[in-house]
Amino acid sequence: HDFCQKCGLESWWLRTLLPLFEQGKILEKAGVCSQIAFTRYLQSGRKLGPDPQLWLQDARFAGVPVRVYRPRAPSAGLRAGAIFFHGGGWLYCSIDSHEKICRYIARESESVVVSVGYRLAPENKYPAAYEDCLNATIHFMKNIEHYGVDAARIIVCGDSAGGNLAAAVSQTLAGGSDLPKLRAQILIYPGLQAVDFNLPSYQQNQGVPLLIRKHAAFFALQYLNGDALHMQEVLEGSHIPPDMRLKYRKWVSPDNIPEKFKARGYKPHKPREFKAEVFEKVKRLCEPNLCPLLVEDAVVQQLPESFILTCEYDVLRDDGLLYKKRLEDNGVRVTWYHLEDGFHGIIGLHDYRGLSFPAGKRGLDRIVKFIKGL
Ligand SMILES: *[C@@H]1O[C@H](CO)[C@@H](O)[C@H](O)[C@H]1NC(C)=O
Repeated sequence: HDFCQKCGLESWWLRTLLPLFEQGKILEKAGVCSQIAFTRYLQSGRKLGPDPQLWLQDARFAGVPVRVYRPRAPSAGLRAGAIFFHGGGWLYCSIDSHEKICRYIARESESVVVSVGYRLAPENKYPAAYEDCLNATIHFMKNIEHYGVDAARIIVCGDSAGGNLAAAVSQTLAGGSDLPKLRAQILIYPGLQAVDFNLPSYQQNQGVPLLIRKHAAFFALQYLNGDALHMQEVLEGSHIPPDMRLKYRKWVSPDNIPEKFKARGYKPHKPREFKAEVFEKVKRLCEPNLCPLLVEDAVVQQLPESFILTCEYDVLRDDGLLYKKRLEDNGVRVTWYHLEDGFHGIIGLHDYRGLSFPAGKRGLDRIVKFIKGL
């Protein structure tokens, strides 16, 4: 594997990790639910002890569980406030699993971080997660004086599915007038569309952990419908009517991906024949609150300054690249950081049970630097 050399995966890691993915296939046969339960068990994370540098507080914002991280050190003035939505394909992970990331950001950027425990699929289908994230964000905006946060420096932030939620919340709040304006959005290898699973990055990295191509569609469908029926048709692209495909082509197309990202084994893909009955079941995939890449330009123009992190060895790389282009085409300032030696989920492995990937820490440090610069 090319990516293993570049990313510095030790061979024992490979021997451990790749078979786990094979096991995923076996578990699938035993039933999707048991697979979800098993993976949740693996990824649920453990609650850490107190932090010498941070105050931690569990609370509810508009009924949604949150954990607030506040630096203990006195501050001369108000701080930036980042609302964080964790990743995990809308199905997995929790406030606990992303504890280290949130602590790192709060500590190093000296800002207040609010991690949101939104409801998970498949039990809670779209738009439950999105609504929880939106409601928690609005509650935070209305109550920032309790947290020593500067109304002019509120940020939404998330990794993977959390990046999707951050982008959707950001779009919803853009242009509103009765709440403070978001200062920035931070999208860490976000998933932003479910129209085309054959973009270059999806082809190039289809078997690369921690997110294989098939699972990208699996997660989106579980979030949407609470099941992954029609996954094969969605992967092949027969779920989008030709006229809509044509309309979205200006935003979601390999033509908008710079050539240098196509060098590593990409073949143009011709979508299979359109199937109306599949579209009928999955058409809400085209709502911008689920696929933020499909929002109109008028909304994109109002979005706040953005930070986008992408990884070379990640099926979602091109979602990030395409959104970067849409933002820039609409005059939004973008700070883009690309980890040439990164893979999906690497931020969570910046310090994982004694095993760390320096690229993950590099990415986090860039995020910290961005926040401090606001
Ligand atoms: C979000 O807040 C709105 C307005 O307060 C409320 O009507 C709605 O039920 C809330 N949504 C959820 C999922 O709790």
